[in-house]
Amino acid sequence: MSEPRQILVTSALPYANGSIHLGHMLEYIQTDMWVRFQKLRGNQCIYVCADDAHGSAIMLRAEKEGITPEQLIANVQAEHAGDFADFLVDFDNFHSTHSEENRELSSMIYGRLRDAGHIATRSVTQYFDPEKGMFLADRFIKGTCPKCAAEDQYGDNCEKCGATYAPTELKNPKSAISGATPVLRDSQHFFFKLPDFQAMLQQWTRSGTLQDAVANKLAEWLDAGLQEWDISRDAPYFGFEIPGEPGKYFYVWLDAPIGYMASFKNLCARRPELDFDAFWNEGSQAELYHFIGKDIVNFHALFWPAMLEGAGLRKPTAVNVHGYLTVNGAKMSKSRGTFIKARTYLDHLQPEYLRYYYAAKLGRGVDDLDLNLEDFVQKVNSDLVGKVVNIASRCAGFIHKGNDGLMVAGDAAPELSEAFLAAAPSIAEAYEGRDFGRAMREIMALADRANAWIADKAPWSLAKQEGKQDEVQAICAQGVNLFRQLVIFLKPVLPLLAADAEAFLNVAPLTWNDLQSRLENHKLNPFKALMSRIEPAKVEAMVAASKEDLLAADAKAAPAGNGELAKDPLSAEIEFDTFAAVDLRVALIVKAEAVPGADKLLQLTLDIGDERRNVFSGIKSAYPDPSLLEGRLTMMVANLKPRKMRFGISEGMVMAAGPGGEEIYLLSPDSGAKPGQRIK
Ligand code: MSP
Ligand code: ZN
Repeated sequence: MSEPRQILVTSALPYANGSIHLGHMLEYIQTDMWVRFQKLRGNQCIYVCADDAHGSAIMLRAEKEGITPEQLIANVQAEHAGDFADFLVDFDNFHSTHSEENRELSSMIYGRLRDAGHIATRSVTQYFDPEKGMFLADRFIKGTCPKCAAEDQYGDNCEKCGATYAPTELKNPKSAISGATPVLRDSQHFFFKLPDFQAMLQQWTRSGTLQDAVANKLAEWLDAGLQEWDISRDAPYFGFEIPGEPGKYFYVWLDAPIGYMASFKNLCARRPELDFDAFWNEGSQAELYHFIGKDIVNFHALFWPAMLEGAGLRKPTAVNVHGYLTVNGAKMSKSRGTFIKARTYLDHLQPEYLRYYYAAKLGRGVDDLDLNLEDFVQKVNSDLVGKVVNIASRCAGFIHKGNDGLMVAGDAAPELSEAFLAAAPSIAEAYEGRDFGRAMREIMALADRANAWIADKAPWSLAKQEGKQDEVQAICAQGVNLFRQLVIFLKPVLPLLAADAEAFLNVAPLTWNDLQSRLENHKLNPFKALMSRIEPAKVEAMVAASKEDLLAADAKAAPAGNGELAKDPLSAEIEFDTFAAVDLRVALIVKAEAVPGADKLLQLTLDIGDERRNVFSGIKSAYPDPSLLEGRLTMMVANLKPRKMRFGISEGMVMAAGPGGEEIYLLSPDSGAKPGQRIK
């Protein structure tokens, strides 16, 4: 055997402002399987990750929740770590980009880039929210599309007509944070001079570091010429202040990849055998792999290697890019219940089912991967339960009953033993090349052969015949030995099944080298069911629960129901089903009166056909004489959860438009509408 390799592996750092879903898990599971394979082979392989904790999105979300960003990222980190652990993703370290190590490394790298002349500064004119006192990233500006006049479009592109433009071209721009009209303001920005690295990148991207499809995509950008990259943001920002530049912060994507190093550095402090510099200095013999999704290729295959080169550090050995997860052939959808959070999955199903399914479908390419839920049930049940576990369960009973759990010596099927051993290099090569699908196909082909051989020998009929006990024992010992080989092959994918199998086999943790040996004159422990079939009802329950997640999330995001006009221009797109879940009715205002002691509220009595509702609404400023409202029709949300207020219970909401104050316009239907009619 050759020298063990030294390998450092990373998965992309998940943003600390949301939950992990099955799309993310495609990445963490595949990285974990690859790392476990390396460890099984006896290589030194370290797997680090962290939460990506910086940026304005996290700052604003914390503000909305009324907590500090530090509290928010601590809560999310605990949630993420729990999800990963329960999916058997075994990080050597899971850190945070908001850490001392990352602060130091970021300043160090920035300092080296600056001293080597790779940082430029110049003034940039940008929209500024005068109410909120902050510069606005494009996605925090909304307005009317300059091309097609569609309203409520983001600052950089129009979803209606597909036009892209500068935020300054947007008509009637508004801050999506405060609603204020933004003003143009200048500020000094720091740029990383990416064009300095054009030649290096041209060479590096073509040196076997990337899949061909990825290298081709990058070639388009490289041929078009690289631009300087804006790496600074102005306060207020949640991140690291740029050393010596008060009020200026590193853009989140500058310190995010440095977070890989920071997590490793944090681990080195606990693991003295690891030498940080030996992994990161220029000329390092250690291997470095990043696993990422196809959406973040430019950060990892252009900016990152250039930063490393400019700072005199080593570059990645390879960046392994994967496609996106779809569920049942379509983008994950909240209304269909296919936007499945890691935790929702774990509430209903075993982690190894999904690990196996992903393995079976993953190739080396960047194609999207479809989780077809019917196929998932079928494939896991037929391969893992029907083929692999079946071998052990068929054989174990005879060994326990007929020979007190002792496996006899001798090879009852040398041709099979040989075939299993002969397949090992090819399976290893498939794992090494991340062609998990090929590895699984080859393993299942071996399982098929083992099952066919056992079925042919039929120990269950022999056991009923006189004088065939030795033959039964020889067959079943061989069956268990073949099962043990399959467990070794599958261990990177199914670590829990492997641990349970090791307990049954009564052996120390299996390694790839153990393929060379077999169990003879060896005592087994009692056999326990190693894996149960997936019940389709559990999958249905998971999908139903994912729809519930959505309703819960919507309830949380809904504007305060106290009659204040909703002011949330950031509202995301919703699915039709979400809209359809709102019970909108024509309502007759039977009575309208001021609420003593409340200066904004009117108390309305509404007739919606079959019942009357009491609603408090913050529209008094526009209707100083409420009695004028009596007798007119309006529209209400009739299935809003009742809300207890200081003056009583509000049983719904009426709909109005306008900015507030005197300008509030209660909506009405055309004449002819009847109280209680549903609005569709
Ligand atoms: N924070 C950045 C990464 C910084 S790395 C220095 C980020 N975070 S993320 O949470 O949005 O995504 C984390 C990883 O999950 C990315 O590699 C991303 O491509 C991957 N995926 C997110 N959604 C996915 C799918 N639906 N399918 C497959 N991978 C997906 O990007
Ligand atoms: Zn448009």
